Amino acid sequence: MSSTTSNRTHHLTLIAALGVLCSVVLFFVYFQPSSTVCPSRLDDLPFLAKGNVSSSTKKPEKPVDKPLVLLWFWPLGVRWNFKICKTHFNIDSCVLTDDRSLYDKADGVVIFHKAIRRNIKNLPQSPRPHFQKWIWFHVESPTNTARIPGLENLFNLTLSYRRDADITVRNELTTVKTEKDSDFVLPKKDKLVCWIVSNNNPSTGTGTRARYYQELVKHIKIHVYGSAFTGSRLKYEEYYSNLASCKFYLAFENSIHRDYITEKVNGPLVAGTIPVVMGPPRQNYEQFIPAGSFIHVNDFTNAKALADFLLQLDKNDEMYVSYFTWRRYLKAKPHLLTMQEEFIQPVCLACEYMARDKGYYNVVHNLYEWYFG
Ligand SMILES: *[C@@H]1O[C@H](CO)[C@@H](O)[C@H](O)[C@H]1NC(C)=O
Repeated sequence: MSSTTSNRTHHLTLIAALGVLCSVVLFFVYFQPSSTVCPSRLDDLPFLAKGNVSSSTKKPEKPVDKPLVLLWFWPLGVRWNFKICKTHFNIDSCVLTDDRSLYDKADGVVIFHKAIRRNIKNLPQSPRPHFQKWIWFHVESPTNTARIPGLENLFNLTLSYRRDADITVRNELTTVKTEKDSDFVLPKKDKLVCWIVSNNNPSTGTGTRARYYQELVKHIKIHVYGSAFTGSRLKYEEYYSNLASCKFYLAFENSIHRDYITEKVNGPLVAGTIPVVMGPPRQNYEQFIPAGSFIHVNDFTNAKALADFLLQLDKNDEMYVSYFTWRRYLKAKPHLLTMQEEFIQPVCLACEYMARDKGYYNVVHNLYEWYFG
């Protein structure tokens, strides 16, 4: 349950918000979450205007009816042009700025948790205008979250992957509208099981995920890609085609938490590959994706039993394709594979939320009890 009081239990759906897929983005699939991205790389992204990466130089014009939302920190120093909310997500109901001198006028202030760096002096220091809402922006799992003291009762809204956040950010399946959409042709497969790992070497890791892999690989061949493992990163254009060429994809989350089901699952659903998931219990997955679209490691007593099942499916085409019947009704939308998107979308959604949330009073009580509890 949320500890957020709100007059509405309104959750944003990405269905309306998401724009067109940009299929030509040349960017790395994987990155070290702690590293900053070289700003020059941003120019590689077609939707970010060249040479206009910083928006701090020009004051935004604020139409009277649009709320002003201040991004207090650029997440991990990654910058982008706020116009992308309009061009890519079709969100134009608010004005975003990173200009701290507009603090007094801002209706919302988006505060990226990690950037506080354990020092609440990094938060706005001037008194908060009575109409202003502070938005706690955090998209990592509790395992990878520092409890910064002093934040428990500071915020008005939460922005997270959690369903019970005020503003929820997720890859959501959409309903199939046209018959053409449901014309699914299974991609050609030349690999059985694939796995992409960004920052842990499966042969030396000690976490649950690594141990499971070590056990599984004794019984079935697994193709492993990823920066830490092969030393070479997978490019965007290679990502979906690589996934498509595998019968199964290991969608193992880095830590296990309610609702923490990431793009690792969305990728194979888009590509036409069966995700083999490790994360929260099956019921939690089924709240987001169809029961028959994935295989859960918990459904098997051990890794060998899972391997046996995958080998059985490999030999039985009818059984294998039955995992794709959901595609007649639902559609997975490709996600962009950039650190930018990880941050851009939530900020655009926060902005959109503020345009709808005008006038309501919200307080987040016991942020950590909600998040870690
Ligand atoms: C935002 O939260 C703060 C801290 O709990 C509270 O004092 C303030 O009244 C809230 N403002 C709004 C507009 O909800």
